[in-house]
Amino acid sequence: MEMEKYINSIKGVIISEDEIREKTKEAGKYIDSLYDGKPILLVSILNGGFVFAADLARSISVPCEIAFMAAKSYEGKESTGNVNIILDIEKDLSQYNVIIAEDIIDTGRTLKKITEILKSRNPHTFRVVTLLDKPERRVVDFKADYVLFTIPDKFVIGYGLDCDGYYRNLPYVGEMG
Ligand code: IMP
Ligand code: MG
Repeated sequence: MEMEKYINSIKGVIISEDEIREKTKEAGKYIDSLYDGKPILLVSILNGGFVFAADLARSISVPCEIAFMAAKSYEGKESTGNVNIILDIEKDLSQYNVIIAEDIIDTGRTLKKITEILKSRNPHTFRVVTLLDKPERRVVDFKADYVLFTIPDKFVIGYGLDCDGYYRNLPYVGEMG
């Protein structure tokens, strides 16, 4: 990608670093409140969820382990409709309060599938926390337990979210031009 095209294609900031930091602290308190003697397993969904999960993990005070899952459903800006699990968790989930930390819920397909898979393994409790939610785009019925920001139907990048692999390292959430 040419450098100029790369920079010009960011239209603007949708959610600033400060806003993310503040809401992430609140989400950490929510997670702390769920601790009931069983540790929390914070599950980061790769690749998009890695930045949010890292910050969220540092806002949690109760005993917490981290695990990773990877799912692939997008090519460029389009949802392909099918979700492939390309990295799975190997732990016995029955001893954990499992909490998914996801970057965004769009059509809902990815988390619906991941939720089905993980719930079938009988976690002690199971919840989904998402940084962003685009409810207008839903094609399957899915609701997160905790949403930091609800956004309109725009393709966003930054803070873990990419467009063809780029922009994940932006410290804010921006809109693509
Ligand atoms: P789903 O459509 O809810 O299954 O969303 C699946 C994945 O698509 C998310 O985890 C993101 O990685 C990606 N995605 C959805 N909307 C956006 C967006 O606006 N920008 C970047 N990635 C997105
Ligand atoms: Mg993702």
